Amino acid sequence: MSEHRFWGGTIRKLWPTESDKFRDHLLRLDKETRRLRFAHGVSDSFVADYADRMSDMGGIVYGYFVDGEMRAAAELRKLGDVWGHEAEAAFSVERSYQDAGIGTELMGRVIRSARNRGIHHLYMSCLAENGKMQAVARKHDADLRFEYGEVIGEIVPSDASYFSFLAEAMEDRVGYMMAVLDLQSRIAKAA
Ligand SMILES: CC(C)(COP(=O)(O)OP(=O)(O)OC[C@H]1O[C@@H](n2cnc3c(N)ncnc32)[C@H](O)[C@@H]1OP(=O)(O)O)[C@@H](O)C(=O)NCCC(=O)NCCS
Repeated sequence: MSEHRFWGGTIRKLWPTESDKFRDHLLRLDKETRRLRFAHGVSDSFVADYADRMSDMGGIVYGYFVDGEMRAAAELRKLGDVWGHEAEAAFSVERSYQDAGIGTELMGRVIRSARNRGIHHLYMSCLAENGKMQAVARKHDADLRFEYGEVIGEIVPSDASYFSFLAEAMEDRVGYMMAVLDLQSRIAKAA
C-alpha cells in the first residue's frame, strides 16, 4: 500500500457519540483479524456490544479515518475507575490497511496519551503467534514477556513533558475540527 494512502487518512480521537463508527470498524474486521484482536473468535453481537460500551469504559479511542470511515482503532483503557499507573492497550487495523505503518503510528499516540496521564505500564495482551503486533511493539522499544502462552507487552513510557502535553492538546483541536467535518458530511449524505 502506498504511503499516499496512509497519509491520505487522518488519525484523531473518537468522540463518545461516535461509537457507531467504532462498531462498524470492528464488525468489518475479517475473521482472522477479529480473532487476533480479541484473542479468540467472537460473535457480531459481542463486538457490537463491546463498541457500544466504549464511552462507558472511560478510555480513549484513536481512530484512523479515510473518507469519514474508521479503518483502524487504538484503545487505551483504564484498569480501574480512574487512571492509575497501569493501563491496557488494544489495536485493530482493517486487513487492506495493514502493513502501511498505521499500527505503528497509532501505538505512538497511545504511548504519548499514556505518558500524559502518568501511566507507567501499558499492557498489551496478544496471542504468542501474533508476530506483527510484536513487531509493532518492538518498534516502540517495548519489552515483551511471555506468560501462559500469551504475550504481554509491557511498555514503560517516560515522564510527560510540556511538549507531549502540548502535542496531544494541539492534535485534539485539529481532531475536533475533523470530527465536525465528518459529522457535516454525514448530515449532508443523509439529507
Ligand atoms: C497488529 C496490527 C495492529 C498492526 O498494525 P499494522 O498497521 O498492520 O502495523 P504496521 O504496518 O505499523 O507494522 C507492521 C510490522 O509488522 C511486520 N510484520 C508483518 N507481518 C509480520 C509477521 N508475520 N511477523 C512479524 N512481523 C511482521 C511488518 O514488516 C511491519 O514492520 P516494518 O514496518 O518494520 O516492516 C494489525 O496488523 C492488526 O490489526 N492485526 C490484527 C489485530 C491484532 O493483532 N491486534 C493486536 C492485539 S490487541
